[in-house]
Amino acid sequence: MIVLILIIMISITYYAYFRRMRKPLYELSESLPDTGSLPVLGHTHWFIGGPEKVLNNIKELATLVQDTGGLSKIWIGPSLYIVSMNPEDVQKILENCLQKDSSYKYLQAWLGNGLFVAPTDLWKVHRRVLKPIFHNRIIEDYIDVFGEQGSVLVNRLEERLGKSEFDAFKYITSCMLDIVFETAMGEKMDVQHNPDTPYLRARNIVMSIISMRLFKAWMQPDALFKLTPYSKIQKDNIDLTHKFTDEVVKKKRKLYETYALDRETGRKDLLELLLERDIKFTDEQLREHIDSITIAGNDTTALVISYALLLLGHHQDEQQKVYEELQSIFGDSKRSPTKEDLNRMDYLERVIKETMRLYTVVPVIGRKTDKEIKLSNCTVPAGVGCAVVPFVMHRSKKIWGPDADSFDPDRFLTENSASRHPCAFIPFSYGTRNCIGRHFGMLAMKSILANILRSYKVKSRACDRLKIEILLFPVPGHLISIERR
Ligand code: HEM
Repeated sequence: MIVLILIIMISITYYAYFRRMRKPLYELSESLPDTGSLPVLGHTHWFIGGPEKVLNNIKELATLVQDTGGLSKIWIGPSLYIVSMNPEDVQKILENCLQKDSSYKYLQAWLGNGLFVAPTDLWKVHRRVLKPIFHNRIIEDYIDVFGEQGSVLVNRLEERLGKSEFDAFKYITSCMLDIVFETAMGEKMDVQHNPDTPYLRARNIVMSIISMRLFKAWMQPDALFKLTPYSKIQKDNIDLTHKFTDEVVKKKRKLYETYALDRETGRKDLLELLLERDIKFTDEQLREHIDSITIAGNDTTALVISYALLLLGHHQDEQQKVYEELQSIFGDSKRSPTKEDLNRMDYLERVIKETMRLYTVVPVIGRKTDKEIKLSNCTVPAGVGCAVVPFVMHRSKKIWGPDADSFDPDRFLTENSASRHPCAFIPFSYGTRNCIGRHFGMLAMKSILANILRSYKVKSRACDRLKIEILLFPVPGHLISIERR
């Protein structure tokens, strides 16, 4: 009995201490409007369910935040998040909070301290070192690879001519993998013809376990996760992917140190450029950076291309405009797009931007305050989570007008974008921790879409059912059909 009383007293004292230490958080929370929270649970119940339900809940919650003034809070268990839908506050968050939210820790077992998840101090040093290797001048050397792999894709798509609808993403993601592997590590994988390798299978397994863990509250504590079979499956598959990149890094370092690198193509891959930097990365750091680049750069780019095909497939007038622009650049020539050609694809660029607005493939960005910051109607202490939801902001009627849900590439004409807030449209995030590969992604998307749309006319139906699996996917897949031009 005495033991029980003691336990109760210790628990009450600890709880009172816990509440006192977190007083600034509760005060901040009190000062913000409430959006559908329950006692104790907070908003945790909004994040329970399948990936489609969770995405719809995020949409509903973010819309509620928008309707209550654009800045609010959510509680997930004991963690407080500030949710911001005002471009002005979003700018302050993305410029000032460089630390990623704790939910990114599930990626850390895989990507270590690669740029995507690195803690702020290390990230600052490494981002400075990596910045020059993503310079436009260097990325433009990869335009030939974009063109070559795009042609392989066009040939592979021939098997779908005149047949029923198929999932375009499967073809496009293989093409992007070939591009990313060749440009990041100089490896010609030919995934387009060999899509089922143990390495790729392992990558997909790890990705789906991490995504599942993000939205299943009971899987999140490490102690509980370790009790499930997924823990061992994840470890085995992470080990397999690490082994693959480790071998590539070792091979490349040996060639680099013995001056035996292939100079046939005249271009250097990103790994080689990393080896040349003044800072001497260890093999482990190189693996972490290369894995982060190939993972951050592949599905994101492939998804935007696939969504653009979906949109153009049911907006035939806009597809015709893209085709006419491509005809004016290439005529009947079958040559691969050059840098000059890509620079002339103004309308296609607007189509890609409008696609990224309507289907924002990185739907949520999570950061953590590393110092106190002042937002429009509150001051947020250090250590608080901040969620930005570009997926919902990009369809806000307040920002984009009453027809925010409709497809209109001309929103991105210079004269129509000039007065828009710089954080109204942030598919690549914003501030110094934005996407380092955005120029790479834009050139690859233009080149691949140009190759497909010069060869095929695309048809599709509208797709409104979406789900979140870290990135934004359509529930039925990117279903299109094609005819020869
Ligand atoms: C359309 C294609 C792409 C989209 C929409 C996209 C979007 C983004 C976004 C939103 C972030 C910030 C994520 C966050 O803070 O949570 C990011 C970061 C990053 N992206 Fe991309 N990305 C794309 C293509 C690429 C490509 C092609 C590469 C590399 C070749 C790449 C490499 C990275 C890396 C390394 C980071 C981490 C940057 C850092 O923390 O300093 N991305 N991307």
